[in-house]
Amino acid sequence: MPAGGFVAGDGQKAYPGKLTPFVLFTCVVAAMGGLIFGYDIGISGGVTSMPSFLRRFFPSVYRKQQEDATTNQYCQYDSPKLTLFTSSLYLAALISSLVASTVTRKFGRRLSMLFGGILFCAGALINGFAKHVWMLIVGRILLGFGIGFANQSVPLYLSEMAPYKYRGALNIGFQLSITIGILVAEVLNYFFAKIKGGWGWRLSLGGAVVPALIITLGSLVLPDTPNSMIERGQHEEAKTKLRRIRGVDDVSQEFDDLVAASKESQSIEHPWTNLLRRKYRPHLTMAIMIPFFQQLTGINVIMFYAPVLFNTIGFTTDASLMSAVVTGSVNVAATLVSIYGVDKWGRRFLFLEGGTQMLICQAVVAACIGAKFGVDGTPGELPKWYAIVVVTFICIYVAGFAWSWGPLGWLVPSEIFPLEIRSAAQSITVSVNMIFTFIIAQIFLTMLCHLKFGLFLVFAFFVVVMSIFVYIFLPETKGIPIEEMGQVWRSHWYWSRFVEDGEYGNGLEMGKSSNQGTKHV
Ligand code: BGC
Repeated sequence: MPAGGFVAGDGQKAYPGKLTPFVLFTCVVAAMGGLIFGYDIGISGGVTSMPSFLRRFFPSVYRKQQEDATTNQYCQYDSPKLTLFTSSLYLAALISSLVASTVTRKFGRRLSMLFGGILFCAGALINGFAKHVWMLIVGRILLGFGIGFANQSVPLYLSEMAPYKYRGALNIGFQLSITIGILVAEVLNYFFAKIKGGWGWRLSLGGAVVPALIITLGSLVLPDTPNSMIERGQHEEAKTKLRRIRGVDDVSQEFDDLVAASKESQSIEHPWTNLLRRKYRPHLTMAIMIPFFQQLTGINVIMFYAPVLFNTIGFTTDASLMSAVVTGSVNVAATLVSIYGVDKWGRRFLFLEGGTQMLICQAVVAACIGAKFGVDGTPGELPKWYAIVVVTFICIYVAGFAWSWGPLGWLVPSEIFPLEIRSAAQSITVSVNMIFTFIIAQIFLTMLCHLKFGLFLVFAFFVVVMSIFVYIFLPETKGIPIEEMGQVWRSHWYWSRFVEDGEYGNGLEMGKSSNQGTKHV
């Protein structure tokens, strides 16, 4: 049987295998790779609102903050250097995720995770001991390299290890550890900001060593994936490992498919040009649009700058960090909801419900801020109820993101690509995500200064566009094995014109095309 797997009664492919303690352990450890990404997202915002940190490295921002409270609140943080500090990491991550794709392919997923941990560790140490702005930026570039390696290899590792029936939940495990990383960082910031002497920021930045060590040690104890072993010619070891991972003796169906898949991907000389073929148009579109839209929800304005934002709308440093802790907890809790519901309610439902929820909240927050701050950014006395309303709607917005575009922004791309383009397309998704994270981080403070409350309306506009996009163009992928995914495009009113019947879509056809030696254009 060429790359067939066996076909279950309902016509869909099914491999035997259980959710063994071994696979659960490896996936939990690997998913912790998301912690370094999350910790960093959570730490930067808090640190850049600590007065002692600003006074030392960004004195002009500090001075502006100390000036009379009647100055324009929208613009007090508008400093290109401060922005460069936050966003330099994302460019570094973008570059390294492309390099990591080669390391991951040639030397295994574990080595990329190990590099990720070590680079992140080095960056954390340089940041913790920083004496000059350049040290901060070099440190952040190293952190970025670390994240690029980790984000490239961890999701890949998870989907190769997970039994296909649990791939969705295990995939969202990665997003869950991102959100836990964010929350832990925000809690630590809250306490470190209180340290007398004002050196708490060193602990916040240096604390990144801990998640870095977790992924470094994790990568040393984890086994490599059977796919990676096969790619490197270790067929017998791979089969033994697959038996252990799946908890069954007969793994020959899946094993044969892995061997065929590996041959298939080796037959493609230029994965990047292959992606440009007409039949991959729907996949390429999604690989670009999903991460683009995920970032255009504006979530990272809240994640990076929540403390800054809360400060702007009238909270003191302490209260604003506390509010960030509240949004961080909502983020974790709502991610659990998506783990529970993603295979019951479907991806489209979550996307559309989350989009509507975010839209309403953005409109309310824009109206609240506009009403109090006006266009000149001078709020006067802010009543307590006002701050509570704004924080509440920001929390409802975060929940909407955390059960829709947050996890699905990573899950959906990873489940719709056929095997022969999966790794190249996934790199595009990661790169687009990093580019737009960078752009938003880079321009947010300037946008806040110039667009004022209208900033929230810009993101609201994009939420409308992305919801319409999902409604019209994204087929439901719930409950469909990855190897059968071709059918969702073939039966789609628009995408069917790009994909031809039988070109790809299940293991049997894939095996056939592998025998015929699919070549790039
Ligand atoms: C996004 C990040 C975001 C995080 C928030 C992730 O899925 O890629 O950009 O900061 O979710 O939880």
